[in-house]
Amino acid sequence: MTSRRLVLTRSAAVIGAASTGLLLPEIVRAQSAKVRVGLMLPYTGTFAQLGVAIENGFRMAIGEQGGKLGGREIEYFKVDDESDPSKGIENANKLVQRDKVDVLVGTVHSGVQMGIQKVARDTGVLSLIPNAGVHAATRSLCAPNVFRASFSNSQPTRALGKVMMDRGHKKAVWITWKYAAGDEAFEGFKEGYTAAGGTIIKELGLPFPQVEFQALLTEIAALKPDAVACFWAGGGAAKFIRDYAAAGLKDKIPLYGSGFLTEGVLQAAGPAADGIITTMHYSDSLPTPRNGQFRLNYAKTFKLQPDVYAVQGYDTGLLLIQGANAVKGDLTNKAVLYKSMEGAVIDSPRGKWTMSPSHNPIQDIYIRQVSANENKVIGVAAKALADSGVGCKMA
Ligand code: PHB
Repeated sequence: MTSRRLVLTRSAAVIGAASTGLLLPEIVRAQSAKVRVGLMLPYTGTFAQLGVAIENGFRMAIGEQGGKLGGREIEYFKVDDESDPSKGIENANKLVQRDKVDVLVGTVHSGVQMGIQKVARDTGVLSLIPNAGVHAATRSLCAPNVFRASFSNSQPTRALGKVMMDRGHKKAVWITWKYAAGDEAFEGFKEGYTAAGGTIIKELGLPFPQVEFQALLTEIAALKPDAVACFWAGGGAAKFIRDYAAAGLKDKIPLYGSGFLTEGVLQAAGPAADGIITTMHYSDSLPTPRNGQFRLNYAKTFKLQPDVYAVQGYDTGLLLIQGANAVKGDLTNKAVLYKSMEGAVIDSPRGKWTMSPSHNPIQDIYIRQVSANENKVIGVAAKALADSGVGCKMA
């Protein structure tokens, strides 16, 4: 009797499976096995700390849900992408084809993200971006299965130019790594600064991940702009801040930046960072209970101070939790999964944010100034700033 019932149940499941286009083992895997989460992040190189902070934040969000996603246990798979764009596709495929992950969380570097984007578009795997701001991911190459929980590259710098003009800096030099993140950050800066009446007298750059700044700092000294604006991040940012001060420029030509300049590097940069003003979608000192609780728990758990990367990793976790709960853990239910993530209101340490139609955060941008080893909020540069999403057509 028992075995007959089992047979009937199984055949009913097979008929059900056939009508949904899934075979029995896949249904069983989709609903009861562990959710396979792939982390593709830099764990070596100039962005290594960023990768660790993102993973910590992500795990913290999941940990707050009892370590489960939509009621299912999780199995993690990790790949160090080394911030190397030439290995982007290969590394994404290690997670998607070899490890068969249900969701790919990654990455930091915009060039590497382009590899992930190709694999995500080709395979349809759910792809959550916890940092990389490359415009194409939520513009011309946007996709229903790709969601960004961080920013687009021009978002943090769009309001920076006005902040500098308000402080009387009419002529600026821009300096950055020459790749998508720096170039697109420049796009945002240029638009805001020139609209506010500023003049960019020179654009300077170095290939990623070079950090030989000396010749460029000599050139800045000779150009004598009213201020310098920049995009650097990670180890390169810490070195730029120190070298800028060591070259004697700190007290002569104020340094401004996309907020990544002063994220996760304040210990390493030391007093050279004091006073730097940046614009960013997060500030350590946001005076909300949500941020206070987050910072306390993160510091207790990881014995580290959180930064914007930790917040983005955390928010990536919150976004996935929202989707997984809506489908009760069945991530193959894509229509409901995506709809829930599109409608998400993420109650983040950075403040509440929502998803734009092209799957990029609509969020506030703060003005911050470094003091006593903290990015202190000193104003709001933009409210509910959305990326244009230009060229995005969801398939
Ligand atoms: C990027 O490559 O998109 C990128 C990297 C590091 C950041 C921000 C953006 O801090």
